[in-house]
Amino acid sequence: MEITCFRRILVTGGAGFIGSNFARCLLELGACEVVVLDKLTYAGNLANLADLAGQPGFRFIHGDIADPAVVAEAMDGCDAVVNFAAETHVDRSLLEPAAFIQTNVHGTYVLLETALRAGVERFVQVSTDEVYGEVLTGRSRESDPLRPRNPYSASKASGDLLALAYYASYGLPVMVTRGANTYGPYQHPEKFIPLSVTNLLEGRPIPVYGDGRQERDWLHVRDHCRAIALVLARGEPGQVYNVGAGNHRPNLEVARAIVRLLELPEEMIQHVTDRPGHDRRYAVDASKIEALGWAPEIPFEAGLAETVRWYETNRDWWIPLKSGQFADYYRRNYGSRAVLSGGAET
Ligand code: NAD
Ligand code: DAU
Repeated sequence: MEITCFRRILVTGGAGFIGSNFARCLLELGACEVVVLDKLTYAGNLANLADLAGQPGFRFIHGDIADPAVVAEAMDGCDAVVNFAAETHVDRSLLEPAAFIQTNVHGTYVLLETALRAGVERFVQVSTDEVYGEVLTGRSRESDPLRPRNPYSASKASGDLLALAYYASYGLPVMVTRGANTYGPYQHPEKFIPLSVTNLLEGRPIPVYGDGRQERDWLHVRDHCRAIALVLARGEPGQVYNVGAGNHRPNLEVARAIVRLLELPEEMIQHVTDRPGHDRRYAVDASKIEALGWAPEIPFEAGLAETVRWYETNRDWWIPLKSGQFADYYRRNYGSRAVLSGGAET
């Protein structure tokens, strides 16, 4: 099956970072109709979809995935659903977990229930490598036990399990993807790479949590979107697919690379108190999706340089996002962290 075979695809959370890149990717692949349903929380932004508005086959609906009436309207006539809608920031989940349970668990349930009644033919639940918990050595396989360790990852693991239960119990053709740390254009400046770049552009330091030796596998958003599109078209119902690019880097190395790209001194890197329960490392074995025909195409160094340039040239996009409510969150999250050291001597 190809993307062009679908009559209408519902993309929930499509005004966020990966969802908006994915809606663009679907239209580039020749999808007939794409409907985005998004609540426009602090993380949702119509500016992410500005180039798609008005394109034939594209429609935006403002609404909550936990609202059955809105979801039924949005899903009307859709043969496929891809669920990106979620509360996504670990630090926020530590401060206020309730919204994570409401959207990532209850909202996912409402989508699954509505999809079942509507006879949807393909449902992709977009999940995360965080559900495996920290993996100090080796790589997580899809069959590994889930050991989430923070409210965000626990709520995502619950969503995954519900989705897989709808396949086993009712035959809803669900596929789950578990992607690695994603970066690229349109990522909210609360996340590590855009926070680092935009802080430096504002003359502020990069706050590196703890010793900065925590490791993430960095996946470019366009590679992630191609993987999800492939699973939507060719994934096997009831199956889980890890998505990772093999770009494992300690946070401190990423911070140093960003400082170098902006030609700034390493003193702009500041060590601050660690995130509580901070997972040291995530790493997935992506051989299952590679066997389906996917491979990452964007090398990390090139993707990071392109991303830094994007934030440099799109200040009008991120400056408003770093004021107002975000400034309150920033004070709460970072105000309580002690500075351990300036410079990157660790
Ligand atoms: P994001 O925070 O940028 O966007 C989330 C979007 O969901 C926003 O547009 C927001 O308005 C919307 N939303 C939130 N609650 C909603 C609700 N109740 N109803 C409708 N819309 C709602 O997130 P992202 O980084 O693009 O992540 C998208 C998905 O991919 C999430 O499910 C996340 O768990 C998963 N994921 C993210 C990464 C990553 O590194 N960013 C990696 C793997 C998986
Ligand atoms: O692994 C996939 C997950 O990646 C997604 O499911 C999440 O939605 C996404 O937010 C991301 O989670 P992380 O917690 O790994 O991402 P974050 O950008 O918040 O942090 C990346 C690393 O950088 C992590 O080890 C924490 C560290 N960090 C983060 C921030 C915001 C810092 O050192 N300083 C910071 O200010």
